[in-house]
Parts: sequence; C-alpha cells; structure tokens
Amino acid sequence: MRVLVTGAYGFVGSHVVDELVELGHDVRGLDVLHPVSHSREPDYLNHRAQYVRGDVQDRGLVERCLEGVDAVCHQAAMVGLGVDFDDIEDYVRNNDVGTAVLLRAMAARRFGGRLVLAGSVVVYGEGRYRCPHHGVVAPLPRDPRRLAQRLYEALCPACGQELAPEPVPEDAPLAPTSVYAATKLQQEHLCLAFGRETGVAATRLRYHNVYGPRMPRDTPYAGVTAIFRSALEAGRSPEVFEDGGQLRDFVHVRDVARANVIALTADEPVAGAFNVCSGEPHSVAEMAHALAGAFGPGAPRPDITHRHRLADYRHGFACARRAAEVLGFEAQVAFAAGMTELARAPLRADPATEWRAGPRTASTPAS
Ligand code: UD1
Repeated sequence: MRVLVTGAYGFVGSHVVDELVELGHDVRGLDVLHPVSHSREPDYLNHRAQYVRGDVQDRGLVERCLEGVDAVCHQAAMVGLGVDFDDIEDYVRNNDVGTAVLLRAMAARRFGGRLVLAGSVVVYGEGRYRCPHHGVVAPLPRDPRRLAQRLYEALCPACGQELAPEPVPEDAPLAPTSVYAATKLQQEHLCLAFGRETGVAATRLRYHNVYGPRMPRDTPYAGVTAIFRSALEAGRSPEVFEDGGQLRDFVHVRDVARANVIALTADEPVAGAFNVCSGEPHSVAEMAHALAGAFGPGAPRPDITHRHRLADYRHGFACARRAAEVLGFEAQVAFAAGMTELARAPLRADPATEWRAGPRTASTPAS
C-alpha cells in the first residue's frame, strides 16, 4: 500500500512512517519543516521512505503527492496552546486551511482510499466528572479564589460538592476551549463533510498526552512531558503546577503510531472517533517523579509549586474501550518503561529561535 503521511518529519508522523515502512508499505512523507518545531531536517528520517518538503496548503503539490496513494494519514498540525491570541491565524491556517486544501486535492483526485486524522482529546474541553448526588455534570468554571486557596478539585454546579473524575468516552459533549482545540474539532468536521461527499470513511484518532522519543523541546507549543524533560536536561527541577494531583493519560508515541497503522491497514475502513490513550491515568506529579527518577542519580527533584493556569482543566483521561473493541488497539508501552526511555532519549534539536521574534511569515504546518 502507498501511504501519504503529512507532518512526516514530526513527533508522531515520523513514528507512523517508521511503523509503515517496517510493515513493507511504500511511504511518502510531506512536511514543511515548520520553525516552531524544527531548526533543521531531523536526523531520524527513515531512508526507506520518500520525503517531500512542502506545505499542505499548496494544492498543486498535495495533488502531486497524492499520485498513486491508497491511504492518507494526516498528522501535519500546529499543536499546543501557543503563545497568545496572535497565534489564532497560524493555527487556523495550518490546521484548518491545511486540512481543507488536502481534502480538496483528494476530492480532485477522486481519492477513494483510507483517511486517518490526528485528532486530539482537547475537543472535549473538560474531563468528565460525576457528582455523588447529580450524576455526570459539567463542572463549575475554575474559580481564581479557590485556586489561590490551593483548592483545585472541580465542583458540582448544582450542589457545590467536589466531583470525582471519570474516563471520557468518545460520545462526550464536544466543547473546545482554546484556539488549538477549536481547530482540531474543525478538522474532524471537515473530514466528516468530505466523507459525506465522497463516501470515504475518516478515522479520527483523538490522541491523549503523547510522549516519547523525538518529542519537541520546551516551547509554548509543547506539552508538560516535553517541558519536564527539557528542564531535567538543563539541570532544573520540573515545575509541577497545582498540587500535582491532576490526572492525565500519558500515551507512548509508538502506541499512537500503531493506532494509526491499525486504522490505515484494517480490512475494512473504520469510520468514527477513537480515544487513543493508555487507559491508565497518572498524576502530573507521578509523571514528574518517574521522569526525574529515570533521568539518573542527582537529577533535580520535581518542585510542587502550587502555581496554576486558569485555562487548565483539573483532570482529563480517556475511556479506551471503543478503540479496543472496534479498532483492536490497546496500548502496549507501560508507563514506567516509557518514561525511562524518554528520560534517556536524546532531545530533538532546538527549534529556530527567530520564530515569534521576527516577522511572522510562516503559514505552514508543524507536527
Ligand atoms: C495537552 C496538550 C494538548 C493535547 C493534550 C492531549 C499542550 C500545551 N497541551 O493538554 O495540546 O492535545 O495534551 O494530548 O500541548 N503542567 C505543569 N507544569 C508545567 C506545564 C504544565 O505542572 O510546566 C501541568 C498543567 O497544569 C496541566 C498538566 O500539566 O495540569 C498538563 O498540561 P499540558 O501538557 O500543558 O496540557 P494538557 O491540558 O494536558
């Protein structure tokens, strides 16, 4: 099978390329080498894949890349929370316009193969919470006064009682709360619209907190695992916000790549949204300790700072059942082993420092 992987230089995309090549597939990778993520061509590129350097917003180029392609794995995106609201146009261009151009090119080519989209858990907004009296509820918005008193747990809007977190299923309400989240949800809707027009079933994989080798470094676009890993490398303590008890699902990048490959190569196309997670939540403090412990003797210990970010949610972890039952995907990399590997893996080269400092001309996807 010939597969086009967009964002093929990136963290997840590069692992998808490796898995596909290993299985004997013919892989064409498209990537623009966005300065948010890369200062130069990564040294981990797979010599058995073909790479095209360019923008997923370049329709002519995308149409050429689609030549002879049986499946498209769309990983190219700008990720994370970004710097400030000025990022909005870049996110929309890279993520949504990029997806639109890709889909239009696929329609022009009368593409009838597989489509797998890199989605995100951020489409849910909050995690899922249960009140002992009122069942599953949307929690009250975080209150800065409670946070200042170091009271972090979410509260029931009906009775004010503390809520217990639960795994989020795929049919949970979709309520993106950031620009990035809005663009990830829009990508899903665009793929669904494409599917209705063309009959192509899109598999939407909602990644949880992905970690592992080739992670980007600590940038405003990076998640907590990358930030902690970069801090350790620099001899600094990982700064754990709140009391460190906030739960997340940390899923290893090779598991995420494998979920993509399963969806791309399943006997029948698999339509729908799937949480891609380990199914085993861990607290941010646990993750910090695991990473610091594995970094080596003398590594700085995590610092529980009780700082907080108002826009954060308290807990967010996923229900892994649908992916197991329908896709046959279950994560295999155990948390401790994965964190140990990450602690020892070399960091990616620094992204270009001129990004945000100079004129903001980049309009192309990172991954
Ligand atoms: C992250 C990603 C989001 C992705 C989602 C699922 C970012 C910024 N967010 O969301 O894009 O879709 O996972 O994969 O990439 N924290 C610290 N210390 C720090 C930074 C963060 O303790 O230095 C805490 C935060 O308060 C939060 C938790 O770590 O409670 C996770 O933060 P983060 O990785 O930024 O974002 P998520 O909300 O989990």
